[in-house]
Amino acid sequence: MERVKASFKAKLESALPGQEIIVERPKSAELGDFAFPCFRAAKALGKNPAQLAQELASQLSLEGAEILAAGPYLNLKLQGETRARLMLEALVAHPAFGSAQPHDETVLVEYSSPNIAKLFTIGHLRSTMIGHTLAQVNRYLGCRVWRLNHLGDWGTQFGTLLAAYKRWAETDNPALDQDFAWAEEIPEKRRTPLYRLFQLYVRFHQEEEAQPDMRAEARTWFKKLEGGDAEARRLWAWFREVSLKEFQRIYDRLGVSFDAMDGEAFYEDKLANAIDTLKAANLLEPGDGGAQIVRLEDRGIQTPSIMLKADGTSIYATRDLAAALYRRDTYHFDRCLYVVGSDQILHFQQLFAVLAKLDPWFEGRMSHTPFGMVKLPEGKMSTRKGNVVFLEDVLDEAVARVLAIIDEKNPELHDKARVAEQLGMGAVVFFDALNDRVKPITFTWDRVIALDGDTGPYVQYAHARICSVLRKAGGDWAAMAQPMASSEAALPFPSQAVPASLQGLDHPSAQALLFELAGLPDALRTVQRENMATALARQLLAIAKAFSAFYTHCPILWAENAPEVRDARLTLSLATARALRQGLFLMGIQAPEEM
Ligand code: ARG
Repeated sequence: MERVKASFKAKLESALPGQEIIVERPKSAELGDFAFPCFRAAKALGKNPAQLAQELASQLSLEGAEILAAGPYLNLKLQGETRARLMLEALVAHPAFGSAQPHDETVLVEYSSPNIAKLFTIGHLRSTMIGHTLAQVNRYLGCRVWRLNHLGDWGTQFGTLLAAYKRWAETDNPALDQDFAWAEEIPEKRRTPLYRLFQLYVRFHQEEEAQPDMRAEARTWFKKLEGGDAEARRLWAWFREVSLKEFQRIYDRLGVSFDAMDGEAFYEDKLANAIDTLKAANLLEPGDGGAQIVRLEDRGIQTPSIMLKADGTSIYATRDLAAALYRRDTYHFDRCLYVVGSDQILHFQQLFAVLAKLDPWFEGRMSHTPFGMVKLPEGKMSTRKGNVVFLEDVLDEAVARVLAIIDEKNPELHDKARVAEQLGMGAVVFFDALNDRVKPITFTWDRVIALDGDTGPYVQYAHARICSVLRKAGGDWAAMAQPMASSEAALPFPSQAVPASLQGLDHPSAQALLFELAGLPDALRTVQRENMATALARQLLAIAKAFSAFYTHCPILWAENAPEVRDARLTLSLATARALRQGLFLMGIQAPEEM
């Protein structure tokens, strides 16, 4: 396919010397496989785009294809047989369809980055899974990827936590969860040290409303922590440890891992140097109330970036500055992606502007992937106020709903619990990826855990249905749908020969399925370009739907099929199963073979 695209492009280049040629994917299979929009070239040549398309159509030809004008577009449409052969060769003779050779491009993906001593909420899922997908897709496309977790393990909230802990925790013994009298309504799974810390934190903020002088207590504790006070440090280290233990449990469940977990505290000893660099570049100025700021008006940003508070202490932005300088020197990256909610857009604009002023090397390398925050119908989620939806509850509920359906529809299914886990997670993670809006998402249980319609389980179901057909086909078919190994970045599949005759794929529904499969590599490129997972989720849905139509119109194992028709259709089904499984895998979603 890539070769056809390249020759189409080459022909256009020689027909239109000096013009930039961008070949796109048409909206549907009927239009063809590749499209060239004539607008730009027509304008440059002083022609009407439709007229140019006509001229090119009569001038150009390619074996095995038609070149046709459709309004202002010039479309290349392969003959069915050629399309089927090219696609199936790419899909089943290759171990990882749409992947690219490793090359020298280093991409940092920073994601998840939860704050210590808080519980994982549904809000954290977005950064975690979008980030995971970006890391996976970039690796699949041959980049060297570093997965970074910028843990929120430093800052004034630790003063609050220390003060709360000193006030109310009966003992500072790390086993504090063990002999604690938990309120009855706290479910068993929540009775962890981390949850105690979370309760203390919420309580402090509640009581503080009536007693504002409690704030001073929190400030004092943060000063102690920053100053290296032994007790404060010891407790902080313990808070961090119990938090990480809980986070790890969630990461294991989600199948997510990191190459570095250098949190904000890691940059403590690098802050002075970062500030010195700003001073040396003459960028630091006194601002309102004694703070030290960097002005950014020359970069079109009216709000200056505060780098030091009036009392000389660092803030979130200072630590991000130090982190970026450290990453430049450590990883020599080409791109650094920050997968962080849209409430931090200004923060990252400021950060990138400061960096670019400091060192032009940063220009064009930094990007923020903002995504819509998850809110509750009654408003913003706030850990402080205690009105949050915990991620674990959402996952558990999704799994329970799936299990209830399995019990009703397929009670004999073996390994029910595992399949329910995979489908429940699939529902939640896929929903999240499909949403590309920067606008907030309103959380309702039925929305986030939908199991019908455009959902992860729909795609998973298509995969499982194909596996069932392949099992019934006998021979090696089912084995060929199994990955050979589970490498971290891709599922490599065994190579399968493409049958000599592909007549069984003449039907428009088979051709439409081939067209959607061909869209997968483009979708991966879009994910890489836009730093969003949405294009991949959409393409997997399109493939699953196209398969469903093919399955309806083209019986696969039908007794009266000629053997070559059966083989061609089985090969297309196999290719589809692999593509779906690979795509889901890149999103961190498992594909059960039976459901
Ligand atoms: N810990 C922060 C939060 O929960 C997110 C950190 C994002 N990354 C960064 N480099 N600032 O809001």
